[in-house]
Amino acid sequence: RISEHILSSLNQVGIETHLIKRINMREQLVKLVEIIPIEFVVRNIATGSLTKRLGIEDGTVLDYPLIEYCLKNDELGDPLVSREHILAFKWMNVFELDWINEEIRRINDFLLGMFRGVGIKLVDFKLEFGRLEINGKKEILLADEISPDTCRLWDVVSEKKLDKDRFRKDLGNIIQAYQEVARRL
Ligand code: TMP
Repeated sequence: RISEHILSSLNQVGIETHLIKRINMREQLVKLVEIIPIEFVVRNIATGSLTKRLGIEDGTVLDYPLIEYCLKNDELGDPLVSREHILAFKWMNVFELDWINEEIRRINDFLLGMFRGVGIKLVDFKLEFGRLEINGKKEILLADEISPDTCRLWDVVSEKKLDKDRFRKDLGNIIQAYQEVARRL
C-alpha cells in the first residue's frame, strides 16, 4: 500500500512508473520492462554502507543529494561502480544515464517534501529503472517499489528509525514502524 501510494503520487506529478494497479494487499500489476542492471542509491544523509566505506560520520547531512551506482549482481554482492564503468561496459548509454540522473533528482525532491510533510526525514533510498518499447519508441521508467524496505526513514523529532534497519539492526517493532509510515502518509 505504501509503495502504491508513493508511485501513484509520483505519477500525478508526471514521473512515469511501472505501476498499473494494485491487485490485492500483496500483488501489483506492473508494466513488463527490460530492467537496467544498475541499482541507483540516492543519499541525503550519510549512513549505512557509505559511512562504513568512507569513514564519514553517521548522520552527516549532505550539501547535495549523492547518487551512487551498484551493479545488480548478487554473486558479486552488488558492487559499487562508476559512471565510467557503466558507459565502458554499455550497461546504459550516456543519454539514458543523464536522463535517469535528472529523473532521480526530481523523484528525490518530491519524496523529500512528501515525507517531510508527515514528519519523516528521507535519509536514503534505492531505485531501479527499466526500458520499455512503446509504439516503436524506447522509453525509460521507474520500475521498483518504494517502501520502508528500500528507503531509510527517520522520524524528524526523535530520529527513530521507521524502516528496514529495524530488522537489519534487530531493533524490534518493525510492523509498528511500517504501519506508522503508512498511517502518516
Ligand atoms: P546501504 O547504505 O546499505 O548502501 O543502503 C542504501 C539505501 O539503499 C538504503 O535505503 C537501503 C537501500 N538498499 C536497497 O533497497 N536494496 C539493496 O540491495 C541495498 C544494498 C540498499
